[in-house]
Amino acid sequence: MQKDANPSISGGYKLADLINLETHEVKMRALSDPLLYEIEMERIFAKTWILLGHETEIPNKGDFVTRDLGSDSVIVTRDREGEIHVSLNVCPHRGMKISTLDAGNTNVHQCIYHGWAFKPNGDFIGSPIEKECMHGKMMSKEELGLKKARVGLYGGLIFATWSIDGPSLEEFFGDAKYYFDTLFLRTAGGLELLGPPQRFRLRANWKSACEQSAADGFHTLTLHRWLAEIGPYAKKPDAEGKGGDLSPEMYGSEVWTDHGHAMRCIELDRKIQRITGKDPSLMSDKEKLTALPPPGITKEMLPEMFERYDEGQLKLMAWRPPQVGGFFPNGLFTFIYLPQPDGTVVGAMALHSYVPKGPDKLEFVNYIFAEKDTPPALKARMLRLSIQMLGTSGLVEQDDSDTWPHQTNAAKGAMGKDITLKYQALFEQGAPAGWPGPGHVGDGFTKDDTQWAWWKYWYELMSATN
Ligand code: FES
Ligand SMILES: [Fe+2]
Repeated sequence: MQKDANPSISGGYKLADLINLETHEVKMRALSDPLLYEIEMERIFAKTWILLGHETEIPNKGDFVTRDLGSDSVIVTRDREGEIHVSLNVCPHRGMKISTLDAGNTNVHQCIYHGWAFKPNGDFIGSPIEKECMHGKMMSKEELGLKKARVGLYGGLIFATWSIDGPSLEEFFGDAKYYFDTLFLRTAGGLELLGPPQRFRLRANWKSACEQSAADGFHTLTLHRWLAEIGPYAKKPDAEGKGGDLSPEMYGSEVWTDHGHAMRCIELDRKIQRITGKDPSLMSDKEKLTALPPPGITKEMLPEMFERYDEGQLKLMAWRPPQVGGFFPNGLFTFIYLPQPDGTVVGAMALHSYVPKGPDKLEFVNYIFAEKDTPPALKARMLRLSIQMLGTSGLVEQDDSDTWPHQTNAAKGAMGKDITLKYQALFEQGAPAGWPGPGHVGDGFTKDDTQWAWWKYWYELMSATN
């Protein structure tokens, strides 16, 4: 059925009233409208690829976790053949939730209501008392399985979509894949999740977190100012009593794509100069990567990593690696380099997914990673630092999660609803000379283009008629 390109939302408004494509503004009511939320669940979350977890969470046959694919609970399983499946967690008999657990291991998912049973791949096994044929004779067993989503695996990350004939995961990543590859495919052993994801709920609209995840740099300077005052980027006060300054961290390149994926690629030259005492412009890419390897990579692991990338990607990783960014619609990655008091730099790698739980609620899910081959002592340091900084109790995320509920509340006010979010600070320089990667690229101090690209794709999906 053809969808309405400009659907009605609350208060007599239409979708198109929310966004001004000329002035780069979005009306705050977009963060609180319950009707809009329903449309988002159908047109975005039931349509695009959504991050559900990592395959190291379900390493053994029969392992499963339950997650949310938009507004639906799904079971993410590994079958006897080792294949990963994602099925709707709703019993086709009378709609009971099949699995009420967060995680477990079983080769038979049996509904607790009337006992219908399903394989890990969602196929219907049968109902109790076979000879009485409790499921009737009107439908075949093939017709009584769980509804199956399409699964996409990338670097061990599990994505799924209800769009069976839509773009592949690779097509959905588009130009972002070149950059994601430098984060998620560094070793043959691949990434490993360091324990089950942390979760907490916030009274905030999912978009307040997600538009920030599309590489908002400006907020770092104020909301996370402590990072430069007492945190890992702090410096001893200079002669004028000035302490650390985060603004140098805001220079680099920002990349955005037509599918709303975005990232900040932050310059490493200053860190490399501090560690080596050398001028980075006189060093080769491999020398720079040896001086400051990516998070979780040791010098011993570097030869393997060098083999896996072309010259352009190694240049990017040595110069301006992607460090913070978002998977449209609701994922964030943060692969950062944290200076330590002993002069070393330790990486932290985390993914967040901001799972919508209603127009003014979201679940913050935090996945912490290291390479499988990272030595245990370094893994332990990375885990500790990730929890301190990026976890649900992490200092950075306590700052961020303070603002989202306030924005969501403000978006409910009679006046606040019509205040606009503004994305008007734009790059004036394109990709810097020698930039190796694709996509839209801005050079210089952080700007709003990445977040505006996020909203533009949001609007494209919300107004799509197919
Ligand atoms: S609702 Fe699941 S068996 Fe009846
Ligand atoms: Fe932040």
